[in-house]
Amino acid sequence: MGRLKNVEEFFGREFEQTEPMVRDVCTYVLGSGGKRLRPALVLLISRMLSYKGERDVRYGAVIEMIHTATLIHDDIIDGSDLRRGRPTANNRWGNQTTVLVGDWLYSRAMDLCLELGDVDVMRQLVTATLRMTEGEILADQERGRLAIDETTYMDITRRKTAELFAAACAIPALFQPSTLHLTEPLAEFGRDLGICFQLVDDLLDFTSARDKLGKPVMADLREGKATLPIILLLPRLDGRQTENLQSVASTGVFEAISVQEVLELVRTSGVLDETQRRARFFAERALKRMEGFPEGPERDALAKATRLLLERGM
Ligand code: IPE
Ligand code: IPE
Ligand code: MG
Ligand code: MG
Repeated sequence: MGRLKNVEEFFGREFEQTEPMVRDVCTYVLGSGGKRLRPALVLLISRMLSYKGERDVRYGAVIEMIHTATLIHDDIIDGSDLRRGRPTANNRWGNQTTVLVGDWLYSRAMDLCLELGDVDVMRQLVTATLRMTEGEILADQERGRLAIDETTYMDITRRKTAELFAAACAIPALFQPSTLHLTEPLAEFGRDLGICFQLVDDLLDFTSARDKLGKPVMADLREGKATLPIILLLPRLDGRQTENLQSVASTGVFEAISVQEVLELVRTSGVLDETQRRARFFAERALKRMEGFPEGPERDALAKATRLLLERGM
């Protein structure tokens, strides 16, 4: 998509003028790839709503800056050393610098809203950032404990991932008075898409390969994070299996049970299929919500993207 290139140029200009350390870290992280899903949603939905101005590029870039800040903070919290196939920023520059660059990114993102006086856009982004931070706090509180319930897991998922998707989808409706009524329906669509996306990300943590993912596999369990496949698996295990699994989450090493054995357990028990079914539920609900959006090639592309995100997990 042509306008995604404009988003990239926006980053380029943004970091040219700033502190060398901020520039280096941001250029490194933003230059390491990433699917640019959230800006792509902003651009596509703006076009679907026949928006003709430049705000789509600006806020596509802004939302990716917020996403980037979250990822670099998330990698510090998770102690991850690989992302997008490269050493993480915390691995390269240490936690101190990296935390501060994350803070800078959040603040500059909000600053970019204020430059145009777009308080309503800013409100969406602030809300999403608050929910995301709460999601990360909740997840951190539950860390190391596998026996969390599904409701807690879904709450974390919605906050840490889905709210930013909701903002990415809703913001284009704020660009023109004639589309304001679509703000909430678009947010609801984005929320469902985001939940589907995180369920699939959690699934891929088991089923994908390091080379494909750009991050280590079975990292969630090692990091002590109970995702849906594990939550569904626990009631089906005997006492010894539960203990073994719990020991990986507590110690961060696969000693009592191997990666291969865990994989075998999640595969044969059907919990991966069940997780995929849940993801499908949210994708289908998102598709249904699209019925109220303006018809045309952009809406079709949005439907296609929704299906692709779901199929990533298959
Ligand atoms: C990673 O998001 C964090 C999750 C919500 C799972 P992405 O998978 O969109 O990350 P990049 O930007 O493509 O690397
Ligand atoms: C996603 O959580 C990070 C946020 C959305 C804040 P994960 O911890 O699952 O993301 P990855 O797997 O590190 O990309
Ligand atoms: Mg992480
Ligand atoms: Mg993950």
